[in-house]
Amino acid sequence: MKLHPYIILASVVGMVQALHMDTNNLTNIKQNAALVADGLMNYYDGYRRGGTIGKFIPPYYWWEAGGAWGSLIDYSYYMENNTYHDVIQQAMEYQTGDDYNYIPLNESTTEGNDDQGFWGVAVIAAAEKNFTNPKDPKKQWLALAQAVFNTMSARWDPEHCGGGLRWQIFQWNSGYNYKNSVSNGCLFHIGARLARYTGNDSYADWSEKVWDWMIDSDLIIPGPYWKIVDGLEVDNCSDISPYQWTYNHGLFLAGCAYLYNYTEDEKWRNRTLELLKGAVVFFGTEYDIMYEAACQPSNTCNQDQRSFKAYFSRFLGLTMTLVPETEAVIRPWLVNAANAAANSCSGGTDGVTCGLNWFTGGWDGKFGLGEQMCALEAMTNLQANKFPIYTATTGGSSQGNPAGGYAVTNTNASPLKLGAGDTAGAGIITAIIGVSIVASGVWLVL
Ligand SMILES: *[C@@H]1O[C@H](CO)[C@@H](O)[C@H](O)[C@H]1NC(C)=O
Ligand SMILES: *[C@@H]1O[C@H](CO)[C@@H](O)[C@H](O)[C@H]1NC(C)=O
Ligand SMILES: *[C@@H]1O[C@H](CO)[C@@H](O)[C@H](O)[C@H]1NC(C)=O
Ligand SMILES: *[C@@H]1O[C@H](CO)[C@@H](O)[C@H](O)[C@H]1NC(C)=O
Ligand SMILES: *[C@@H]1O[C@H](CO)[C@@H](O)[C@H](O)[C@H]1NC(C)=O
Ligand SMILES: *[C@@H]1O[C@H](CO)[C@@H](O)[C@H](O)[C@H]1NC(C)=O
Ligand SMILES: *[C@@H]1O[C@H](CO)[C@@H](O)[C@H](O)[C@H]1NC(C)=O
Ligand SMILES: *[C@@H]1O[C@H](CO)[C@@H](O)[C@H](O)[C@H]1NC(C)=O
Repeated sequence: MKLHPYIILASVVGMVQALHMDTNNLTNIKQNAALVADGLMNYYDGYRRGGTIGKFIPPYYWWEAGGAWGSLIDYSYYMENNTYHDVIQQAMEYQTGDDYNYIPLNESTTEGNDDQGFWGVAVIAAAEKNFTNPKDPKKQWLALAQAVFNTMSARWDPEHCGGGLRWQIFQWNSGYNYKNSVSNGCLFHIGARLARYTGNDSYADWSEKVWDWMIDSDLIIPGPYWKIVDGLEVDNCSDISPYQWTYNHGLFLAGCAYLYNYTEDEKWRNRTLELLKGAVVFFGTEYDIMYEAACQPSNTCNQDQRSFKAYFSRFLGLTMTLVPETEAVIRPWLVNAANAAANSCSGGTDGVTCGLNWFTGGWDGKFGLGEQMCALEAMTNLQANKFPIYTATTGGSSQGNPAGGYAVTNTNASPLKLGAGDTAGAGIITAIIGVSIVASGVWLVL
């Protein structure tokens, strides 16, 4: 919603633009995606005086920034446009945290496994797309992805409900007693991609372990249409929250596609195809257009949920690349999504602001970072299978560190050493409350 004087003038004189999508015309796709990407960047905090590199303006949480950089990597790679290259690289480099594992101190008191996971998904994509690595050898994309994987897998909790990751990393955060599909989905998905990229079977073994736990826990529910539900309570493992979200479905779908592509084991093909069939729940029957089924009809999607369709398109794009037989189903979904999203990108003062609900044929009055991301990924992923997904042996140049993520030096440097498997207790909570009381005191004085 940039209030550029020219745009205000344009709307006053009635020259309001809108996107005109032709999904058979690459020049046209690129032009439309550029307008949507530029709209996305209006929310970038790093462009503001005093803003933080790598973050988006409030109310967008840190995790969604990890999601957005992933969307912009897709934009750069599939649209062959390097305009945002340096901004993306700088952002992902700045937010790694002192231990190079995407637990930066500023976020560490609220960060969950899923938050860390979405930055992990962005860096493994950077490695696979041979996105220019930072100069710092400790911040190579592959090493960062391995660090995210190592610290997440070390939090595996066999004590409750037979395994799985909890939602939260820290005991004091509400949600610590919840084990959700997105946290486990991130571990499954990153493991699958690391296996294919590095050729190291240990990652695939971990993904299989996550999958088996999801099945045993009834979080993945086979049937005529396979479902992935939201999560379960640690206090009562049968107390399951039944909501289905596009991003969970996509994380597991694409993870299965990676595992099939890597192992060529028929069981992963079968799981890919079954999850693909189950994904119809996210396409409105009347229009066959992608939607967030659990919140869009009731108009209750929160800021986070408004970005989920972006990851879903991204994971559909990867799936049709890795398991080419799925393109027959996926491409029409993406074409419909791109067209419908483009129609929705006709709002705001600039005339190209994207909406949330793509069924209306126009703008629904909603706007935000998530809306821009969803439209962008629907468009850019039309090109997904025209480009290679590199591995360490087929063109990827990122250097790894299989032991990354913890055991980094300077353990005294920060009050919170929140590495692998830590479940920080009351002492640390007290320390943080102490620090924030001092901090707010200082603030009051100032
Ligand atoms: C493709 O799209 C571009 C940009 O919108 C347009 O200038 C061009 O005429 C289109 N080409 C065809 C063949 O429609
Ligand atoms: C490349 O990206 C920038 C930023 O989104 C955009 O302004 C420009 O038009 C794009 N170029 C092409 C050829 O699409
Ligand atoms: C952490 O927060 C401080 C204060 O807002 C900011 O200056 C710094 O850039 C932030 N660091 C990261 C990695 O976001
Ligand atoms: C394979 O991955 C595992 C799990 O991260 C790691 O412990 C092991 O060192 C890796 N092996 C090689 C040869 O890199
Ligand atoms: C556990 O949750 C299930 C499903 O909600 C419920 O039927 C059952 O009564 C609960 N068990 C206990 C001990 O609360
Ligand atoms: C997957 O495997 C099951 C059990 O073998 C079989 O019934 C089903 O038809 C398979 N699905 C696909 C899509 O191949
Ligand atoms: C793996 O993915 C590549 C594209 O990246 C594709 O060409 C190849 O056929 C896939 N392999 C299998 C077994 O599906
Ligand atoms: C990957 O990037 C490296 C470093 O920029 C470059 O040398 C290499 O040619 C690239 N690989 C491919 C396949 O483009």
